[in-house]
Amino acid sequence: MTQTTTQDILQHTEAGVCTLTFNRVGKKNSITAAMYAALADALETAAQDDSVRAVVFQGDVTVFSAGNDIGDFLQQPAATQDSPVYRFLHGIARFPKPLIAAVCGPAVGIGTTMLLHCDLVYAGDNAMFSLPFVNLGLCPEAASSLLLPRLMGHQRAAEALLLGEPFMAEAALEVGLVNRVVPPTECNAIAQAQAKKLATKPLASLVETKRLMKLGQEGQVIERMAEEGASFGRMLREPAAREAFVAFMGKR
Ligand code: COA
Repeated sequence: MTQTTTQDILQHTEAGVCTLTFNRVGKKNSITAAMYAALADALETAAQDDSVRAVVFQGDVTVFSAGNDIGDFLQQPAATQDSPVYRFLHGIARFPKPLIAAVCGPAVGIGTTMLLHCDLVYAGDNAMFSLPFVNLGLCPEAASSLLLPRLMGHQRAAEALLLGEPFMAEAALEVGLVNRVVPPTECNAIAQAQAKKLATKPLASLVETKRLMKLGQEGQVIERMAEEGASFGRMLREPAAREAFVAFMGKR
């Protein structure tokens, strides 16, 4: 099992803002099952806690997240919709209050697809978004097969999802995946400042506005996550993916 400590996700709540920090920089903030579980638990608590009005996801100034831990993909692939990764995905898809992300450096796989469930995204000018699912013998997750074409149009989504071509912060700004591109050293502070602004507003209005903005979408998103998850789970165990994971772990 991949080594994970509780310190791999830092949690801090202040002035109505719950901040969840990826803190596994030595492994490029790749996300283990234990980290998904910690994130899912934190979201559940934040959803119920009236003193929390917004949640911020952040990483390091050099890396947001290298996506799912590839050792976990090999050793303990998610098996059911109760798995930590699905608890996390359902948690962000259904989270009733504003979700904000500050993204610097690489955001790979779920590091990018989770942003499709955030309300505000701020990017350092070093941010690089990448969805290498096909290159790894996999398919999209997190309802990205639904939300990415909807956001940027089919052709641009195809470059990202079929070709797996990375795109930089300015391109992400152009297609509407991020709100603003800023110097990396300022990114977390800007996300925090926006979160603090939200935290001064009436919670019921924030929640109702977000609910109305997403009305009609949640069911489709959850359904697509299940459809993608069935394929993803099968493909994780097939030779193409396993060969790609072994190659990465062996630095081939
Ligand atoms: N899972 C597990 N370990 C990972 C990882 C991942 N997704 N991404 C990086 N790491 C580990 C590396 O194995 C390495 O560990 P080591 O120092 O013990 O050898 C360490 O993090 C540093 O990674 P490295 O690749 O040397 O850093 P880099 O700066 O050259 O490249 C990335 C950064 C993010 C571009 C690159 O690590 C990468 O492409 N990672 C895989 C991303 C991926 O395919 N994720 C799955 C998406 S579905």
